[in-house]
Amino acid sequence: MTDSKNNKLTKINAVRGMNDLLPADAQAWQHLDHVLQDLTRAYGYEYLRTPIVEMTAVFQRGVGEATDIVEKEMYSFEDRLNGEQLTLRPEGTAAIVRAVIENNLIYEGPKRLWYTGPMFRHERPQRGRYRQFHQFGIEALGFAGPDIDAEIILMGQRLWDELGLKGVRLEINSLGQADERAQHRAALVTYFEQHKDKLDEDSQRRLLTNPLRILDSKNPEMQALIEGAPKLLDFLGEASLKHFAAVQDLLKANNIPCKINPRLVRGLDYYNLTVFEWVTDELGAQGTIAGGGRYDPLIERMGGKAAPACGWAMGMERVLELMKVSGSLPESIPQCDVYMLHQGGETLKAALVIAERLRNAGIDTILFCPPDGESASFKSQMKKADASGAAYALIIGPDELNKNEAQLKDLRGTGEQQAVALEQAVEAVINALVGSSE
Ligand code: HAM
Repeated sequence: MTDSKNNKLTKINAVRGMNDLLPADAQAWQHLDHVLQDLTRAYGYEYLRTPIVEMTAVFQRGVGEATDIVEKEMYSFEDRLNGEQLTLRPEGTAAIVRAVIENNLIYEGPKRLWYTGPMFRHERPQRGRYRQFHQFGIEALGFAGPDIDAEIILMGQRLWDELGLKGVRLEINSLGQADERAQHRAALVTYFEQHKDKLDEDSQRRLLTNPLRILDSKNPEMQALIEGAPKLLDFLGEASLKHFAAVQDLLKANNIPCKINPRLVRGLDYYNLTVFEWVTDELGAQGTIAGGGRYDPLIERMGGKAAPACGWAMGMERVLELMKVSGSLPESIPQCDVYMLHQGGETLKAALVIAERLRNAGIDTILFCPPDGESASFKSQMKKADASGAAYALIIGPDELNKNEAQLKDLRGTGEQQAVALEQAVEAVINALVGSSE
């Protein structure tokens, strides 16, 4: 791309709503990854990775045609090499179910699975809402009882505690079974048709496609109307009510507070019975950090043998933002233990050898490399050494090399400097590091 006026090459930016992960934020993400690995191990969940691109039908059928995601947010395209209709995954669940069916994973019994990775939705970007974002999710497939609903919720609660998140609330609801929803839907349509003049444009459309989603509307002018609408909970039969009561009971036994939100319907079409979200007021408009529920109809809908399942997923960007707001991001870890300074030529050769020996001994070492390929003053190298967070600098100048020595400088404690024999440099660094950590 060229700027037509002065024929200079212009820079090319990232796609709107898709962010780079910069080095300054990398440690926080790595910390989160670490906690998630420990969490999933603690509960016996196994890792499953699916491709980022799937056949479009996976989400059309899985997430549902009448959802915002499928209607207007998917990055879908035709593979021009073979004409296949493909989609960048907007969520993980439908893809996990596709993989479970394709690989016969629950043939021998239920499975607990987890995944993490980028998801893509063409939404209007704002704080906490991106077009490429990252989810961590868990899916428990083949379990029918309320115990697993409770287990996955407990995992969430443990995670928020582990991450030091403040002000996270659990909201829960039951969507019952298809026939119960059909009766409720009929009552809803009758109700909203009686008040059609008060419906906004979006809701008028939803009245025909997915009237349940009207309850999800954030339009303040429709809140009174929604408040008076028939409640799904009043249409649930005995078995659904029993399941819902059992989940609440198990949560109570584990001291997990939750609020029943009869308006919680979720934006994806595969749910039945228990649905839930974790929300916070600390992140502005995008306050839902995670959500999920039971999706018993999905496996059969995707072409597998009918089996119950449930799970949830969290937005990793939102959780990291909430960690920041809660003041619970971990302190940054230094880039290295030792920073090596030299003056080029023979001193560089010696420094390279020592740096390799240090790494052989498990000591993280950064070797100064001058940007211009020449040499640089010790003063400017020392600034870099300080900024790296290294505990020690190891300095080899021509004078030191003549004496077969290096200078070992303490950067964080006393600032003392001592001459060490080159042959003993690794041992000297180990002793110094051990000494400074005692
Ligand atoms: P979801 O509610 O669509 O559910 O997404 C889960 C979480 O992903 C949200 O609570 C939010 O934190 C995050 N998220 C969604 N869209 C964005 C966005 N544009 N930018 C940043 N974060 C976002 C699902 O995806 C289901 N698959 C969850 C599930 C798993 N249900 C059962 N198993």
